[in-house]
Amino acid sequence: MTFRATILTLYPEMFPGHLALSLAGKALERGQWALDTVQIRDFAQDRHRTVDDTPAGGGAGMVLKPDILAKAIDNVSDGDNRPRLLMSPRGNPLTQEKVRELAAGGGVVIVCGRFEGVDQRVIDGRNLEEVSIGDYVLSGGEPAALTLLDAVVRILPGVMGNALSGTHESFENGLLEHPQYTRPQVFEGREIPAVLTSGNHAAIEKWRLEEAERLTRTRRPDLLAGKTHPVTK
Ligand code: ADE
Repeated sequence: MTFRATILTLYPEMFPGHLALSLAGKALERGQWALDTVQIRDFAQDRHRTVDDTPAGGGAGMVLKPDILAKAIDNVSDGDNRPRLLMSPRGNPLTQEKVRELAAGGGVVIVCGRFEGVDQRVIDGRNLEEVSIGDYVLSGGEPAALTLLDAVVRILPGVMGNALSGTHESFENGLLEHPQYTRPQVFEGREIPAVLTSGNHAAIEKWRLEEAERLTRTRRPDLLAGKTHPVTK
């Protein structure tokens, strides 16, 4: 089963963006995943192809019209049970756990919001799951969709070969990743920690776990709160 991403956007030129390069791009060329875009504006009815209107109740900005977006969604996902996401700063925070869940499925349909938002009735009526990539506001959902897809595609089977297996990635075990080093042994007077060149694999594993826990405790204590890890101290 090929993972298929369909992006609904007013800016299809933003895709595949950086996903045409590097590992994701090679995987796209090899057909290990597929991407298609839908121009929301193609579903506008009027002469000016209007997609937005002023917010009910007044206020700044414009709101994406529900009828047009609903048509665009129905055109792609009729009889299709891929999850439908709406990139939005008020969505559920994207986590590695969510990324793994999406990567295990057949694909996603992603709506990229623009303007001040999307009419709530299309979010409710088309079961859109709002997803946020962080507590900051982008000018549109497109870079957020690219970020989500980057995270998903890199863990699809075969995309990174065996480069992922046996690694200690950040969040893999709920911890930030331990520091990494490579040659030279001394760089600007700073040495590689001796344990890493000791050849003692048990000691190396212990050091890495301790460092991962230390970094997580100091930088992201929220990741540790209420969780059980193989904590050493
Ligand atoms: N659109 C605008 N800001 C966003 C964010 N932080 N996450 C997802 N989509 C967005």
